[in-house]
Amino acid sequence: MRQCKRRTLPSAQTRDGETIDTSSFSASLPERSVAVVLGTRPEIIKLAGIVELLGPAAWIIHTGQHYDDDMTRIFFEEFGMRHPDVHIQIGGATRGTQIGAATTMLDELFGELRPQCVIVQGDTNTVAAGSLAANARGIRLVHVEAGLRSNDRTMPEEHNRIIADHLADLCLAPTDIAVENLAAENIDETRVRKTGNTIVEAVHRLMPDVTDRRSITVAHGVRPGQFALATFHRPENVDDAAVLEEILLQLGNLPIPVVLPLHPRTRKRLDDYGLVPNMDNITIVSPIGYREFLALGAESAFVISDSGGVQEEVSVYKRPLIVVRRSTERPEVIGTFAQLVQPGPVIAQIAVGWMDDLSGVHETLGTLESPYGDDGAPRRSVESIVEMLDR
Ligand code: UD1
Ligand code: UDP
Repeated sequence: MRQCKRRTLPSAQTRDGETIDTSSFSASLPERSVAVVLGTRPEIIKLAGIVELLGPAAWIIHTGQHYDDDMTRIFFEEFGMRHPDVHIQIGGATRGTQIGAATTMLDELFGELRPQCVIVQGDTNTVAAGSLAANARGIRLVHVEAGLRSNDRTMPEEHNRIIADHLADLCLAPTDIAVENLAAENIDETRVRKTGNTIVEAVHRLMPDVTDRRSITVAHGVRPGQFALATFHRPENVDDAAVLEEILLQLGNLPIPVVLPLHPRTRKRLDDYGLVPNMDNITIVSPIGYREFLALGAESAFVISDSGGVQEEVSVYKRPLIVVRRSTERPEVIGTFAQLVQPGPVIAQIAVGWMDDLSGVHETLGTLESPYGDDGAPRRSVESIVEMLDR
């Protein structure tokens, strides 16, 4: 594990050059009264809107689960978020050590900062630790993106999200299915609010205009509408050499070129297993910023991924997605924006089918609404938090 250390900045900074209307919330929330705990790329993306609305009420606490600049810093900068007030470092450790170390450090920190509530988002080890530490300190816990279930107990994320939902005083569920999942586990409805998913606002905020999207696409050596965007990082796909090799084989066989921004976990596995993708058809790049990723997604013919967030985003920018996984906690898009498959030739079969009538596929998806709601999720989330604290 990387060395654990904490850094506390002297004061909050507001977003440079922009006026943010947080007046309705700052009237109800005292300065530095809400601890926002995050640690990975998707948590930064999905909490940015909430952090902005909280303004000076927020402490931003980064666990360092992700630590490379292209997995952390770039997203703070793109969203104009101030850098974390407190930074601990649990990156690269085993799951047990990450949860244990972060719980210990967050417990101590919450004892010093005494926030009125703690916010966590999603299903990572950071979420489990933030939830346990808030609970241990008797501080109210808010879980953003509550109620997702893959019903796959082999996934650490399934356990992390169940821990958070059952400890949370406020479960902010993105969809009706998530609300139903919470009810099925006897989580009292007084603890649940449906908000939509904050990703919708994040996509709308950072999606480049069409001219910029096309320049970004061309800069990656591919043509708009004539390439696939792919990402892979799930242990079920990348921690098994044969499975990862099969996925690379399928990407290499696609009828159009593939841009593959490589997650650090996947990069390590390629090195460990000595796998070399078919570079004629696959362009591998380091993880890219959110603007760039959204631009490529929106200009792609289709997307292939095992990412959670990408399943939601395609429904906003209206591109078809092949989800390569055993299960998904995002059933809302399956059968419309996405198809769920296991690694194998079926990937190329679906892709070839879509390529037969790509503009028809895009046109049909363009008529469908995203099941993840509108730009109001960050605002509804903060309103629900204020309401909880007033109770
Ligand atoms: C974690 C989350 C997963 C989420 C993903 C988002 C858990 C259990 N998993 O998976 O739910 O979908 O983040 O991307 O919390 N690494 C680097 N540099 C980094 C970050 C990670 O080299 O900046 C390396 C680590 O050292 C480790 C590997 O990548 O070897 C995996 O990192 P880890 O945070 O444990 O899990 P993820 O696969 O990123
Ligand atoms: N993403 C990004 N750059 C990349 C790959 C992904 O900005 O190179 C974004 C993507 O748009 C999505 C989020 O990162 O919003 C998803 O992260 P990841 O797949 O690592 O995590 P998951 O959503 O599966 O938990």
